[in-house]
Amino acid sequence: MKTYKIALIKGDGIGPEVINEAIKVLNKVSELEGFNIEYKEYLMGGCAYDLYKNPLPEETINGCLEVNAILFGAIGGNKWDNLPREMRPESGLLRLRKALEVFGNIRPAMVFEELTKASTLKAEIITNTDLIVVRELIGGIYFGQPKGKDSDRAYNTMIYTKEEITRIAKLAFDLASTRRKKVCSVDKANVLEVSQLWREVVTQVSKQYPEVELTHQYVDNASMQLIKDPKQFDVILTENLFGDILSDEAAMLTGSIGLLPSASIGGKVSLYEPIHGSAPDIAGMGIANPIAAILSAAMMLKYSFKENQAAENIHQAIVKVLKKGYRTKDIALFDAKNICNTSQMGDLIVKYLKEEI
Ligand code: IPM
Ligand code: MN
Repeated sequence: MKTYKIALIKGDGIGPEVINEAIKVLNKVSELEGFNIEYKEYLMGGCAYDLYKNPLPEETINGCLEVNAILFGAIGGNKWDNLPREMRPESGLLRLRKALEVFGNIRPAMVFEELTKASTLKAEIITNTDLIVVRELIGGIYFGQPKGKDSDRAYNTMIYTKEEITRIAKLAFDLASTRRKKVCSVDKANVLEVSQLWREVVTQVSKQYPEVELTHQYVDNASMQLIKDPKQFDVILTENLFGDILSDEAAMLTGSIGLLPSASIGGKVSLYEPIHGSAPDIAGMGIANPIAAILSAAMMLKYSFKENQAAENIHQAIVKVLKKGYRTKDIALFDAKNICNTSQMGDLIVKYLKEEI
């Protein structure tokens, strides 16, 4: 039987709660589809800092480099907010992404028909929205040197090379080729030099993809267009910081950030994570939405293991559960039905992996 090795990084806050549900679903779907998954757990984030005074211990990096894929929950929390930057949980995640060389972050935002009422936006605006934010993940202002801070002056550097832009652009065009064949590149070329290069290089790459339509938007306009008319987008290609911001905004089209998965690919080992954070305010209450983590596991099955049927089955199971009216609190706002907690939602998705409605 095929066996896939996965590193699990549950992290802080609601991270462990949502990853535990993803494990339940992975166990069931692997049994049904006839493959094996071996898990190994590693620490990262605040929990790792508490034990080792290091948010990303060597053991975690080495362990992650030995597996077929990594499933990660969330990190961070108020408890660690006052630590020096290098010791903060977020630094652990940024260093892991860099060590893995996963430059391409894929963040799909699709609106489940059953949840159109869960969004703060009008149903007719968001219905049938199906877009993917392709975010460059290991460059730009997140990593640029020099950077520094003293008491009255601080600075960061947004820097991109032609090579970095080329590889993320190719990833976006390849993805668009399998979809509705539209790439919208988002930058701030009216102000930033780095965006001018971005636009030139993306335009150059687009020549290799004559079947894909390329448009450009400035990031301020794009953030407006996203809520004005999200259906215009297929693949949004953008740099690290803009992608961070736009993907949270795109999440709200779907009703809740608790629904959105992500895949970080293109490097040594791919990393799958929900786009939400550790939500310290609800940690331990058992009310977090595990769907983003479960969909991240589905992305792992599809992108890393080519177990497309298993991934599709998870998707269908989620649709069935939503059709039946089950909702975690975050998606029940305007549409209270059968409210369930984190583990009940996981159990229901497991149940509907093999049951028709
Ligand atoms: C995300 C997060 C991270 C980021 C933080 C936790 C470092 O917001 O994955 O979107 O900014 O990339
Ligand atoms: Mn973010």
